[in-house]
Amino acid sequence: MVVYAKLVTGLAFAFGWALATLTPLLETKAEDDVALCKKMELDFIVLEGDATSKAIEDDIVSDLKKVGITVNTRLLNKTLFNEAMVDGDFNMAFSETWGAPYDPHAYAASWATPDEAYYAALKGLPPPFTQEVLKQKVTEALRKESEVEREDAWTEILTAMHKQATELPISSKRIPAVINKRLTGYTPGHQQFDYPVHTLRVLSGPRSITVAPGAQSGLFSNATGVGRLDAHTYRPNEFFANNWVYDGLVEYGRGGAIIPSLAASWTIMDSPGGGQNYTFNLRKNVTFHDGADWNCTVAKLNFDHVLIPPLRTGDWHGWYGLPEAIEGWNCTDDYTFVVTTKDNYYPFLQELSFIRPLRMMSPNMFVGGLESDPLTQNSCHKGSTLNETDGSPKPIEHDGMTLMCAGIADPDGISGTGRWKYDKTIKDGEGKVQKVHFTVNLDHWDAPSTSSQYVNELVLVTYPTHEAVKAALLDNSLDAVIGAGVLTEKDVAVFKREHADNFAVPLTEPMQNRIVVLNTAKAPTNELQTRKVIIHAVDKDTIIKKELAGLAAPAESLFPKDAPYSGAHLTPRPDYDYEKARLLNCPEPW
Ligand SMILES: *[C@@H]1O[C@H](CO)[C@@H](O)[C@H](O)[C@H]1NC(C)=O
Repeated sequence: MVVYAKLVTGLAFAFGWALATLTPLLETKAEDDVALCKKMELDFIVLEGDATSKAIEDDIVSDLKKVGITVNTRLLNKTLFNEAMVDGDFNMAFSETWGAPYDPHAYAASWATPDEAYYAALKGLPPPFTQEVLKQKVTEALRKESEVEREDAWTEILTAMHKQATELPISSKRIPAVINKRLTGYTPGHQQFDYPVHTLRVLSGPRSITVAPGAQSGLFSNATGVGRLDAHTYRPNEFFANNWVYDGLVEYGRGGAIIPSLAASWTIMDSPGGGQNYTFNLRKNVTFHDGADWNCTVAKLNFDHVLIPPLRTGDWHGWYGLPEAIEGWNCTDDYTFVVTTKDNYYPFLQELSFIRPLRMMSPNMFVGGLESDPLTQNSCHKGSTLNETDGSPKPIEHDGMTLMCAGIADPDGISGTGRWKYDKTIKDGEGKVQKVHFTVNLDHWDAPSTSSQYVNELVLVTYPTHEAVKAALLDNSLDAVIGAGVLTEKDVAVFKREHADNFAVPLTEPMQNRIVVLNTAKAPTNELQTRKVIIHAVDKDTIIKKELAGLAAPAESLFPKDAPYSGAHLTPRPDYDYEKARLLNCPEPW
């Protein structure tokens, strides 16, 4: 009954008719109209436990019903979901473009790797832009020298995808923060896990503040806390914490601009080998949190460990292009670091801004210190080269090299050059993380002025539920939520609407697009016409208002428009257009 009511409202809405007077007529009409449509059944896979996806799925199902399409949704656990994705056993699957700074090329790389929905879904693309050709076009785009050529290359790729209606764009995600008004000045970050808490100033109360950060899994976990907090490895490290503690050579700024960090400036020159030389002038007078000096020897040490050939492979750092693109690196003096690429590779600086694995650790964190051997004492996580059962060594063999991970010298000796120094983790009697403390690094080149009311300590707090976070904000025991998935979208909207006197709700620019991938290789979405019907039948504005509390913006393309080289306006727009959807799937006059 509820569904039926929605159907009627939908029709009335579409034609701007007054619902009250026409309802009896429409009820019969609506049934007839669906009868005119070409009947289709679609298989929609949704990850279990993802409440937002489920809520959106409901609306998509009822919108598609109005044009004669029956959707069979399968709620799958992570393992089954991944299996279905890899096997291409779906017509529709949710996906999210990877947050800045990855777009668009790193996400595009996933089109060619089997564990992402697009890999199976693009198999049905007809010539001339088959999946194989698209892959080739992406590789070529990354070699383009000028901005104009890159823009053109990406526009060609995105146009080809657009023409084939490969996805239904839904919404653009903005990363929220909810901040008690005893604090001011927060400037949202430019990448998904960049939380620039150093921009906060304290108007009243303690200079130590409590924060519930958005972690990889949403709520900040009491099982893993911020992870090992070593710079060169992955989970359970939390991006945001590594980003606070460790700097890289460059940073990702507004609009995708690459800005100086441990490199104060750089020049780019063609190299005789056909690639390019990036000459980095390293920042002087920088010390690590433990007092060690930053200079070219330390930059080289970090590169030597992360980019040793056995770790450049797919199992390790081969998920992004930089390790393969680099030919070599060396110091020409104490503060000049030269990196040579094999070919032109324009995402090089953008990829150097990534939070892992190429951020700079203090030499004291390496087993063996400055003299550490990248093969026998590598900074990779120690457990990675040990047999899980008996703990015996299980080295990585690659091209005649034998590599052993040694991890970091001292788990308490975490030391980068970043804006925040790791202090301590407080656990309860059962070993669950309660709080993690960081203190401000006033020696950072971008440190807050000591005369300002800067924040001197961050205390990260774990909470069991979204409701507990909300309650803590409201009773003033929690100063700030920063990041996605800590509060529900609806609650963020409640703070914005009803608690504006006591809380500020800054949002980032749109950073990631939520899309529904349409499988071009499985009937009935193998038909271009079907994919177009789906795209025009879904009323995303209404869905966003209802399910995303209006905090997201409607998406009209695969990537957010301000992602690098993704700004082309492609027509026809993949918008809600009920009449068009009807015309395509229910063609007889009515
Ligand atoms: C470079 O830094 C290392 C480690 O902090 C230090 O031991 C070395 O003396 C420094 N080199 C120069 C030339 O300052």
